[in-house]
Amino acid sequence: MNKEIEYSDDMMIVSETCTKGIINYANEDFIKMSEYTKEELEGQPHSILRHYDMPKAAFEDLWSTVKAGKTWNGIVKNKTKNGNYYWVNATVYNSKTPDGKDRIISVRVKPTKEEINKAIELYNTLK
Ligand SMILES: Cc1cc2nc3c(=O)[nH]c(=O)nc-3n(C[C@H](O)[C@H](O)[C@H](O)COP(=O)(O)O)c2cc1C
Repeated sequence: MNKEIEYSDDMMIVSETCTKGIINYANEDFIKMSEYTKEELEGQPHSILRHYDMPKAAFEDLWSTVKAGKTWNGIVKNKTKNGNYYWVNATVYNSKTPDGKDRIISVRVKPTKEEINKAIELYNTLK
């Protein structure tokens, strides 16, 4: 509980949502880091991973950027099923399924210590 989960820098944590942020797809690395099963994740809102240290403003920025058709990048602290946490450098962008429906994809990689420290500082000022 409440411990940081370390992971290797060759991991790519990927998820896909509908335009409302409901998880349609999560890859193996995503499932592993989240401590949920695939079944527990799919169909859930992405806020299932929300950590209480994350300021509301960060996600408002994410959503307004994506709704404006742009790509968002930021450092996010996520909470796992067991109450542990992990930091990600997340890129979120609009896409279409092969049959033409709107979707949003997020690809996350391991951030640097510097990126995490900067995010902690910024989020403390936003809370
Ligand atoms: C593609 C995509 C990926 C997202 N990934 C995360 C994530 O990893 N962690 C997270 O807390 N919120 C993520 N969000 C934002 C959530 O939808 C949500 O806005 C956030 O968890 C805050 O919850 P709230 O909007 O209910 O306050 C993602 C949204 C989208 C569209």
